Amino acid sequence: MAKFDHFNVIGPIYDWVFGRNATLSIHKFIDLEPHHTLLDVGGGTGRVTSQLITITPNAIIADSAMKMLQIAEKKGLSVINAESEKLPFLDGSFDRVIMVDVFHHVADQQRTLDEIWRTLRPGGKMVIEEPNIHNWVVKLIALGEKLLLMRSHFRRPQEIIDMCDFEGIQKLALHKEDGIAWVIVDKGNPNP
Ligand SMILES: C[S@@+](CC[C@H](N)C(=O)[O-])C[C@H]1O[C@@H](n2cnc3c(N)ncnc32)[C@H](O)[C@@H]1O
Repeated sequence: MAKFDHFNVIGPIYDWVFGRNATLSIHKFIDLEPHHTLLDVGGGTGRVTSQLITITPNAIIADSAMKMLQIAEKKGLSVINAESEKLPFLDGSFDRVIMVDVFHHVADQQRTLDEIWRTLRPGGKMVIEEPNIHNWVVKLIALGEKLLLMRSHFRRPQEIIDMCDFEGIQKLALHKEDGIAWVIVDKGNPNP
């Protein structure tokens, strides 16, 4: 029997609730350029990718909820139905890999990070944007998601940093602002 997924229920109203044209802060951290390939893991309805394709057209969303992806497809975005724990891409396929408001939802967070790292090309950059659980509004959201029986598991920003224990990191940074945290990891390039 297929697993129940909250995002297959809220998919059709997601943009209406969470803002189709929300201003994105991730712009500040990804250094995205027109020639870059971009993977948006858990990109859902394309709320984020639909803005980033104005910079690069080489973008794809991987998400586990078909109902979220159907909205993204209607926006003309490239999508693939896949779990973050098993991304169907070759090693080093992308210049940029992002994950916005997804990390606390995935079943296996370490495998997800490992998969993001694997699909990132040497010299590339990954950015994980997460609600900062130190913020009291986020604590309330976490409680609400528990009551809704979502499988959310919010991590402290420093915990996410500690989980990014990859060999070959060039730079690892943490930014915090208004209840959001960004973990930014640059993958070293042995042959620049
Ligand atoms: C809160 S939404 C965020 C969507 C989008 N990143 C945004 O910011 O608008 C979380 C998304 O993560 C997806 N998701 C949750 N667990 C996943 C997994 N293991 N693999 C792929 N996608 C996943 C959900 O289907 C949903 O589309």
